[in-house]
Amino acid sequence: MERRREVFGGRSAAIFALAGSAIGLGNIWRFPYMVGQTGGAAFIIIYLVCCLLLSLPIFLAEVIIGHRTHAGTFGALEQLAPGTKWKWLGLLTVISPLIILSYYSVVGGWSIGYLWQSVTVGFHSSELGAVSSAFGGFISSATGPLICHTLFLAGCAVIVSAGVKSGIERFNKISMPLLFVLIVAIMVYSLTLPGASAGVEYLVKPDFSKITPSAVADAMGQSFFSLSLGVGTILTYASYIKKNENILVTGLGTVGFDLLFALIAGFAIMPAVFAAGIEPGAGPGLIFETLPYIFAKMGANVPWLSSVVAVLFFVTIVFAAFTSAISMFEVGVAYLVEQRRMSRRKAVLLIFGGTWLLGALCSLSFGPLADVQLFGLSIFSFCDMLTSNFLMTFGGLLFVLFVGWKMDPAAVRDEFTCGGTERFNCAVFGAFRFLLRYIAPIAIVIIFITNFLA
Ligand code: PHE
Repeated sequence: MERRREVFGGRSAAIFALAGSAIGLGNIWRFPYMVGQTGGAAFIIIYLVCCLLLSLPIFLAEVIIGHRTHAGTFGALEQLAPGTKWKWLGLLTVISPLIILSYYSVVGGWSIGYLWQSVTVGFHSSELGAVSSAFGGFISSATGPLICHTLFLAGCAVIVSAGVKSGIERFNKISMPLLFVLIVAIMVYSLTLPGASAGVEYLVKPDFSKITPSAVADAMGQSFFSLSLGVGTILTYASYIKKNENILVTGLGTVGFDLLFALIAGFAIMPAVFAAGIEPGAGPGLIFETLPYIFAKMGANVPWLSSVVAVLFFVTIVFAAFTSAISMFEVGVAYLVEQRRMSRRKAVLLIFGGTWLLGALCSLSFGPLADVQLFGLSIFSFCDMLTSNFLMTFGGLLFVLFVGWKMDPAAVRDEFTCGGTERFNCAVFGAFRFLLRYIAPIAIVIIFITNFLA
């Protein structure tokens, strides 16, 4: 007997959930730095083109599979291509988001730790070196990061166990508007700091000489990570979208929000970085080393304001990470509930246990397990490299090939055009199919090879 599946309340709930998955650490630590390093406004233009020509079609391919079947990744592919090897893609995209979740939760945990610090003692060290070594000391210790990782993952488990509507939908509906308000408030503060204009210039000054083939590959890779593509999260969320929803509008809305958030995050972070007179860097360093230093430095002038901004900033990061992490969590839960006939509660516990364990190994790989190396990388870096450089691109490629070449074209058209009722969608369907069948697969293969050679 089929169990009754939950669905999102409506279009805004679906967009909030999808945007919640998309907007995360990738928007806050990777995008602003990449923009500045790779040609400012010139990079933004390339990124926009990548989003529209490559990422949007892949995004829609996942949405089409999920929305057509109303099943999680494994069930969806079994339903559309029964008895074929495509089910392995279903299985792969159950596993890869769980690997991402394991190390993502470690970073989410660090954010909880830093939020705690910003609420309790604050940031006072005006020595950049001291702030960096405090961060190094924190992540290489065993207990603190493990407790934070456990708290972060437990938070995800609580939200996901409450169900699609009362857990995931409700959490995203509150968090997403809150995130936008917070990041805009931080941007306003940042832009008013003396010396902020250098940061604005870093982001907007177009420098087309920096647009090399590898910058284009970077833009594609970033749009993949930022839109959570290729790992079944979008597919799974799309399976909870009501019938007759215009998926093109949902897709454009999500891509638009993701881009807008990344840009605002850029204007929130870079002006402050430049006002403090330091060189921006990518990765966890930007959030956990540079910013606490900035908060301490600004705190010398108006201490209460800088403390408030520090708290708001880490609240933003924790929530942005949560809304992404629950989407990865749900992929595994949907699989266990639908394919293994488990209760939701049991499925949540199992996913919690598995990802906690792998996450704990990732966390310890900064300290006690630093000597354990996989292909010359620490456990954390290996999981990161495996998923962002390979599994996401590979999954994305297979999804577009599936929808472009294997799935019944009439069904694809039906999904894309809402059964032929949306005139605009009908008009652009040919272009979409072309992007899906030719442009997207070729572009993905290029990213794949570039990553392989890097
Ligand atoms: N898109 C998320 C971010 O930008 C990361 C993510 C990847 C979420 C894969 C879900 C799946 O942080």
